[in-house]
Amino acid sequence: MSISALRAVVLISGRGSNLQSLIDAVRDGRLALDIRAVISNVPGAAGLRRAEAAGIESLALDHREFSLREDFDSALARRVDERRAELVLLAGFMRILGPAFVSRYDGRLMNIHPSLLPAFPGLDTHRRALEAGVAVHGATVHFVTPRLDGGPIIVQAAVEVRPGDTPEALAARVLVEEHRIYPLAVKWFTEGRLSIRDGRVFRDGRPVR
Ligand code: GAR
Repeated sequence: MSISALRAVVLISGRGSNLQSLIDAVRDGRLALDIRAVISNVPGAAGLRRAEAAGIESLALDHREFSLREDFDSALARRVDERRAELVLLAGFMRILGPAFVSRYDGRLMNIHPSLLPAFPGLDTHRRALEAGVAVHGATVHFVTPRLDGGPIIVQAAVEVRPGDTPEALAARVLVEEHRIYPLAVKWFTEGRLSIRDGRVFRDGRPVR
């Protein structure tokens, strides 16, 4: 880890395969990121063990211990700030974050979502894509705003839907793309190449779409 690597905290809820793609990119020297901590709102999430295996601090903050969403969000923000994170990465984090949390990290809070947004925000995206009969599906990395899965898009990757696809088969192919584009988007951020103007992302000064 170089001293100049950007400090990040990764938030997860489960398996942590996108977290792993970031860890691998750092390990392979493709990404100058100092992952200060991985925080899960689900105690025992498999992704926490991936963090531990990589020598990264891992902690659980169980949302069920908070009766108010804002209290959970404040406790989470405290932990993020204690680690002086410059970037907050949602990687399969399945809690909605309130407007105070989102605005606190405005322009430095990213999410990966398993669809080609604005199509299929929310949950169960692969089944819904198949039911809608789309020919193309995919994944999106975007900055987070208070609108659920509605923030400025940084990068997308498309996957063809095949005849006879199941949600699981489609999810597996989309996941391969997720693991490619999340480290890429984070790399652009660490290189200072991304900016947001009028709700659109620019890379190297040019609109990404
Ligand atoms: C990923 O497919 C991610 O895009 C999705 O959850 C999965 C987490 O997998 N995120 C969302 O649906 C966010 N609303 P992972 O824990 O193996 O990275």
